[in-house]
Amino acid sequence: MPGTDALRARNHEFWAQAAPGWIRHADRQDKAGRPLGAAAMEWLRPQPGERILDVGCGCGGTTAELAAAAGPGGEAVGVDLSDPMVAAARRRFPRERHPGLRFVTADIETVRDVPGAPYDAVFSRMALMLQADPVAGCTTIRRSLRRGGRLAATVFRDGGANPWMFAATLGAAPHVGPLPPVPMGDEPGPFAFADPGRVRRILTAAGFDAVTVQPYDVTLDAPDEGEPVAEWLIEMGPAGPAYRAGPAPDRAAARAAVARLFERFREPGAGYRFPAGIWLVTAETAP
Ligand SMILES: C[S@@+](CC[C@H](N)C(=O)[O-])C[C@H]1O[C@@H](n2cnc3c(N)ncnc32)[C@H](O)[C@@H]1O
Repeated sequence: MPGTDALRARNHEFWAQAAPGWIRHADRQDKAGRPLGAAAMEWLRPQPGERILDVGCGCGGTTAELAAAAGPGGEAVGVDLSDPMVAAARRRFPRERHPGLRFVTADIETVRDVPGAPYDAVFSRMALMLQADPVAGCTTIRRSLRRGGRLAATVFRDGGANPWMFAATLGAAPHVGPLPPVPMGDEPGPFAFADPGRVRRILTAAGFDAVTVQPYDVTLDAPDEGEPVAEWLIEMGPAGPAYRAGPAPDRAAARAAVARLFERFREPGAGYRFPAGIWLVTAETAP
């Protein structure tokens, strides 16, 4: 397995390449991706006046939701390693209209002190499994919380519980250029937190108490628009950058191939229903 620095560099490179696709599809991601974070939002129940950190906030949709729940006396701060995504989040949710909302560029694994800490609560949707050194990152998260603070995060379970992800990559792959390395074993990637025992060990080693890992099965709904839906999920995944770099006929072939593989998730006339299997991970800091 490559060393931590190499894995971290791979993570940064991946998100540098993936950011334009995530920015382009940010509105659809907020809407269709909502069920991926709903269990964590519900468990966290942000209270008026609280200060909340959103780790791996992407283009800021969940941070805005947290800020709305925290109300005028509270604050939500989104942190993400991707500068372009943080800039997009600031454009989408300008400070004049969202005074309780702030976005910061930082790698949660290497930042010394999380700006604005200590927080009452930390939220994270689909980001913790991407860390090269998850104990280091989760230790920083724990240190960013006040005593008696709480963490609620969602991460993907295994690939079998999320078959649309393979379909998007497999369909596109023959029509696009080279893809990034496939993660192996515990290497960071969408399924690196598939083993709940590993997740518990990481959070416990990071100093958290009361760690729980619970399965949730959710559905991502999308309208009955074959090619735009195929393009959205290609661009969210590892084939996204190669897809965007390809000529128009290859992109059309990739979308058509993915749309064919997505047929099994389609209810004609009603739309797509993609099953997603996630863990809700919760933990607390010592009182
Ligand atoms: C799968 S995306 C999820 C984005 C957003 N939370 C959502 O659900 O739409 C993962 C995000 O985590 C960010 N990320 C990955 N590793 C990170 C790290 N070590 N520190 C901060 N952000 C990180 C990526 O830049 C990316 O925006």
